[in-house]
Amino acid sequence: MKDILQQLDDRRETARLGGGQKRIDAQHGRGKLTARERVHLLLDEGSFEEFDMFVTHRCTDFGMEQAKPAGDGVVTGWGTINGRLVYVFSQDFTVLGGSVSETHAKKICKIMDMAVQNGAPIIGINDSGGARIQEGVDSLAGYGEVFQRNIEASGVVPQISVIMGPCAGGAVYSPAMTDFIFMVKDSSYMFVTGPDVVKTVTNEQVTAEELGGASTHTRKSSVADAAFENDVEALAEVRRLVDFLPANNQAKPPVRPFFDDPARIEPSLDTLVPENANTPYDMKELILKLADEGDFYEIQEEFAKNIVIGFVRIEGRTVGVVANQPMVLAGVLDIDSARKAARFVRFCDAFEIPILTLIDVPGFLPGTSQEYGGVIKHGAKLLFAYGEATVPMVTVITRKAYGGAYVVMASKHLRSDFNYAWPTSEIAVMGAKGATEIIHRADLNDPEKLAQHTADYEERFANPFVAAERGFIDEVIQPHTTRKRIARAFASLRNKKTTRPWKKHDNIPL
Ligand code: HXC
Repeated sequence: MKDILQQLDDRRETARLGGGQKRIDAQHGRGKLTARERVHLLLDEGSFEEFDMFVTHRCTDFGMEQAKPAGDGVVTGWGTINGRLVYVFSQDFTVLGGSVSETHAKKICKIMDMAVQNGAPIIGINDSGGARIQEGVDSLAGYGEVFQRNIEASGVVPQISVIMGPCAGGAVYSPAMTDFIFMVKDSSYMFVTGPDVVKTVTNEQVTAEELGGASTHTRKSSVADAAFENDVEALAEVRRLVDFLPANNQAKPPVRPFFDDPARIEPSLDTLVPENANTPYDMKELILKLADEGDFYEIQEEFAKNIVIGFVRIEGRTVGVVANQPMVLAGVLDIDSARKAARFVRFCDAFEIPILTLIDVPGFLPGTSQEYGGVIKHGAKLLFAYGEATVPMVTVITRKAYGGAYVVMASKHLRSDFNYAWPTSEIAVMGAKGATEIIHRADLNDPEKLAQHTADYEERFANPFVAAERGFIDEVIQPHTTRKRIARAFASLRNKKTTRPWKKHDNIPL
């Protein structure tokens, strides 16, 4: 019996070495952790339970039967993050470059199926040379099975991808369909075709880093949601993110202990909005002052900075925040910011996370590049996302809410539950100057008259009271009471129920 137990230990020991010490050293030499080291950092200490440690591939071509490393290049299983169940797979680059075989894919599919069945998040750590070349179409079939599961799990359990090495070819489409993608700076990249193919086809010369590195995907393409300095930091941030999320679409987000009075008064908010309507201020200051303990988990911080999205907690409960940022492009809505916010609103709605919208928006960005780029369609995404959302929604207008952007940004007309405005709000079709120049075109050459018209318009419309008189704004509130107001509003909405007509699914403009 002792021998048998020893044999098991020995087999496990060999399996844990993956592709061997030499390749592990090479992995470390690149500043990367191994698949198992990553899993252990991600999960609570001692909580990881591995599946399929002894699975091997079944390929007999190209001499593959000679080597059948246990685990076949991916470590899979489950464990906990701060006590909450998650399923995880972590590709092992030391085994055949983490390439995806039929059996490798089956291991991933198994834990994805279990995650959906048991209602827990899936976290995928990607570090792979892509389809296992020796297996051909079996490998592609394996990817297809993973993709299908990504789609079926979407909106059912949160899916998080961490890119910690190469991720190329069609392989990028599994992470692309997950809810959040994190990358590691200088050691991860994602692209559909690599630099060599790009050179052949388009004659462009570009490095892997420029083509699909963390900076490219967090700043330019918006494929990735965040980038971190190294593996350790990225995994710590996944843990922090998971803390904000519900386990599945039927579960409430976790409630954390909080030490911040929900009725906290913030006198500094009374002077946050500058006297001059064109002077910017930092909307993040407001977010931090409203959040429990000033804790804000920002998503896509480096992309479309004219809108800010992320998670806070109010009374210990997760709330998704969408906020115009007057510091960047005056907080205008454009293609990128609309897409960024729309996807976030849909994530929150899918997972029953209430939404707080903070508004200071002068409208949509004009111009040919926006129109040619389809701002109509992309702007409609945000409109659609808010209009279809049934989660509790609380909205605060701090200053400008002009035109179409007023309606789009969680207005009363799109079924937001509480719409508050600060006394500094201006809710109108457009700014006073632009409006005057249109309706008093005849006086365009008379600056004195024009100034008078502008002042009249401002007096009449640059305030929240016209909207409040119609019930489009539920209450004009003192800025310093905002945290108390929104905390009470969200508390009152905890049992919100709405029904919508049956449909197979909607047809959101894509
Ligand atoms: C089998 C692979 C492999 C692969 C790497 N390896 N990729 N084995 N299939 N796809 C093996 C290597 O042979 C090597 O084995 C070990 O992994 C480490 O690879 P290196 O090349 O030494 O590492 P590195 O220099 O870091 O380069 C990493 C790499 C490169 C950039 C990923 O290996 C590479 O270009 N691989 C091929 C990538 C590719 O074209 N994949 C197919 C893409 S198409 P030894 O034994 O020497 O250690 C695709 C379609 C998916 O993925 C479609 C889904 C629908």
